[in-house]
Amino acid sequence: MYRSHNCGELNASHINTEVTLAGWVQKSRDKGFMNWVDLRDRYGITQLIFDESRTEKSVFELAKTLGREFVIQVKGIVIEREAKNKNIPTGEIEILVSELNILNSALTPPFTIEDETDGGEDIRMKYRYLDIRRNPVKNSLLFRHKVAMEVRKYLSDLDFCEVETPYLIKSTPEGARDFVVPSRMNEGQFYALPQSPQTFKQLLMVGGMDKYFQIVKCFRDEDLRADRQPEFTQIDCEMAFVEQEDVLNIFEGLTRHLLKEIKGIEVDKFPRITYEYAMKTYGNDKPDIRFGMKFGELNQLAQHKEFSVFNAAELVVGIAVPGAGNYTRKEIDALIEWVKRPQVGASGMVYVKCNEDGTYKSSVDKFYDQEDLANWAKTTEANPGDMIFVLSGPANKTRTQLSALRMELATRLGLRNPEVFAPLWVVDFPLLEFDEESGRYHAMHHPFTSPKPEDIALLETNPGQVRANAYDMVLNGNEIGGGSIRIHDKATQQLMFKYLGFSEEEAKAQFGFLMDAFQFGAPPHGGLAFGLDRLVAILGGQETIRDFIAFPKNNSGRDVMIDAPSAIDNAQLSELHIQLDLQ
Ligand code: AMO
Repeated sequence: MYRSHNCGELNASHINTEVTLAGWVQKSRDKGFMNWVDLRDRYGITQLIFDESRTEKSVFELAKTLGREFVIQVKGIVIEREAKNKNIPTGEIEILVSELNILNSALTPPFTIEDETDGGEDIRMKYRYLDIRRNPVKNSLLFRHKVAMEVRKYLSDLDFCEVETPYLIKSTPEGARDFVVPSRMNEGQFYALPQSPQTFKQLLMVGGMDKYFQIVKCFRDEDLRADRQPEFTQIDCEMAFVEQEDVLNIFEGLTRHLLKEIKGIEVDKFPRITYEYAMKTYGNDKPDIRFGMKFGELNQLAQHKEFSVFNAAELVVGIAVPGAGNYTRKEIDALIEWVKRPQVGASGMVYVKCNEDGTYKSSVDKFYDQEDLANWAKTTEANPGDMIFVLSGPANKTRTQLSALRMELATRLGLRNPEVFAPLWVVDFPLLEFDEESGRYHAMHHPFTSPKPEDIALLETNPGQVRANAYDMVLNGNEIGGGSIRIHDKATQQLMFKYLGFSEEEAKAQFGFLMDAFQFGAPPHGGLAFGLDRLVAILGGQETIRDFIAFPKNNSGRDVMIDAPSAIDNAQLSELHIQLDLQ
């Protein structure tokens, strides 16, 4: 038996018990005649004591050879500590060691295995298994497990059945590039790794599974950001015989359950806003509604005066920043520079200080009088002491720029408290999105999403206006899930492919299996998928998903620990019938 207890469970009630522990040497303090060692495992730290007067000489001597991260087993008696440590659960006791067994030695770790480490990101990624020994990373993984367990529990209780779908599939268009896998047995042919199990979960509905979920890896070859990994995990769900309302209720219930079980927070019914409202009010389809700063459109009030910049603009739009009325000229100039950076791309910014005495001072006083500015303040809901910032230009671009400013200011003002949770639904997404590059429409969600029946006629005349039965769940400014009611008949699906620019042959070659299935009694169905990594990170008070993934990739999509991706040898290549043409 390697251990009778773990390193986190012994306390004063165990005094005089003989125990066996195993773990890693966190650190030791050698005072010559007395040697203390902190022994660590997943559950905590227990102090060991080797005392020249009480410990057998050979054991006492051996303890002096222990280095950091040695793996040891000890046997000893639990005794009361003289200097108690109130900060840890085992702080009242220590183990007077009688037997010491070195199970494995260890090289000196390249960074300290402490909560605050001296190791940079790169080195910790290379030695991720050492990083996992640290509390912050270990706790993130335990937290992730807890969320996943709660998800499984909640959905299983509602009769959802977890079904595994294949990883070696045919390309499913979800907007990113596929990772592909060459087939040895089928020369010149490739599998694609799923961007999501979308078509399979729909086929499960045709198969009568009725309520499906899966905690499943998905693979997307896209540019990486803090909230994106090339392989990530979805809580993928689908239900038959449901309308949008049913789906929203079930998964709002799941999220509410998680907030309650994991964070101890009760939230009211989630607000629902349309995509159009989100874009007009927040410049963003995943608004952070923990704070206000809603957009106020000022075209009516600011145009047709002498200010040519606003007169020429498609949109003039502002936000009131709470309590920012006392920003100095220098601070304002720095913000103007901030919005002019290429990453944001505004050409300039107008400001209006709302003085405490009810007067206004703006950068465009030449063109607007106090009454004009008072109207701007009303539209942006500014109070005395606030600052209004106004941007202008092409509507979509300007909204995006103001949204970036809104988020930046909220961060600076401390309005994005990670322990406050503000979920909402964004509904009525457009079905199609015009892609400037290819000059045609793409499915905004995916090609299996059903248009709103009342908008179908618009497909011929104004495709960009067609709304879909598609929805996203947004939490604290992050899209944590998205889904839709699906098309379930062949004719509509065929029509959809036509509008997306597929020829009949292309549609048949790529999705014939799905359209065939639709002819064999496909029930109405719909669902959604949560991004588990994102959900866990946000519940954990962070936005970088890497910290909640055991072995993540870096920003170049590399696993620096195992050094992947990597070249493969010629024999393997030729078996796969692949010839490289590396110039
Ligand atoms: P969608 O593409 O919106 O929908 O993905 C669902 C959720 O998955 C998360 N997500 C990601 N998380 C980390 N890294 C990534 N690269 C990444 N990409 C997406 C997001 C997102 O909301 N099949 C549909 C779902 C459906 O219609 O039922 C789908 O995959 O949190």
